[in-house]
Amino acid sequence: MHLLKFFLLKTGLYRLLRPFEGLMSKAAAYSEMCNWLRQQPFEVNDFFNPKATHADHYKLFEYATGNCKQEPIDYFEFGVDDGETFYWWLQQLKHPDARFFGFDSFEGLPEDWGVLKKGTFSHGGQMPALNDPRAQFVKGLFQETLHTFLQTYRSGNRKILFLDADLYSSTLFVLTTMAPYLRSGDLILFDEFFAPRHEFKAWVDFQKAYPHLKIQPFVSFGNYNFIGMKVVEGI
Ligand SMILES: C[S@@+](CC[C@H](N)C(=O)[O-])C[C@H]1O[C@@H](n2cnc3c(N)ncnc32)[C@H](O)[C@@H]1O
Repeated sequence: MHLLKFFLLKTGLYRLLRPFEGLMSKAAAYSEMCNWLRQQPFEVNDFFNPKATHADHYKLFEYATGNCKQEPIDYFEFGVDDGETFYWWLQQLKHPDARFFGFDSFEGLPEDWGVLKKGTFSHGGQMPALNDPRAQFVKGLFQETLHTFLQTYRSGNRKILFLDADLYSSTLFVLTTMAPYLRSGDLILFDEFFAPRHEFKAWVDFQKAYPHLKIQPFVSFGNYNFIGMKVVEGI
């Protein structure tokens, strides 16, 4: 392989490959993701569902929280937007000691995500209304708020992390920053997982960086867009 690299560099023939870079890397990413998905022993998986819609993430929430709705959960949502899903969780988890933390800049995506341009989902920095004392929003880029938040975060409660920031960078940052806090039984729920160069890639790279953390995917809805994973062993 070294010879091939030297040859391409020396002769300049690598230029013949350049127009195909995007296509080849896309094909490789699709192939890696499909291969990974086919190997997962999901308890429930609706693939292929021709009627899948974005609202199927509620099926994931229902399935994943089936037996923990009465527990004092610490719910973390990364990517709140107008609060639609955040409010759903507030209504569903009734325990008075449950806590809800919603992280968002409320200024929209910090980078383009496919056809969605930077700034999509922006509310001009305005947070949605909140009138439940169990809940709070943490406003700002995750990269600027999460470390500070975690300095004072103490809890023995089971955690549910809902990752709905779409982007590779945001998802990878959250996973790697939250890794030391993950305990057996915690849940990680992904929205838009079926994006080979964003959430899926963040998950793969995170796993490589934390090989001792055991996390088991167990449920998939919406044709692999909405995936639930359980922490089996923390670090
Ligand atoms: C798809 S929307 C969330 C939708 C919401 N969970 C719902 O279903 O109701 C994605 C959100 O992620 C936020 N976001 C993405 N990356 C972020 C980052 N690094 N820091 C802060 N917010 C981020 C955007 O501002 C946007 O509001």
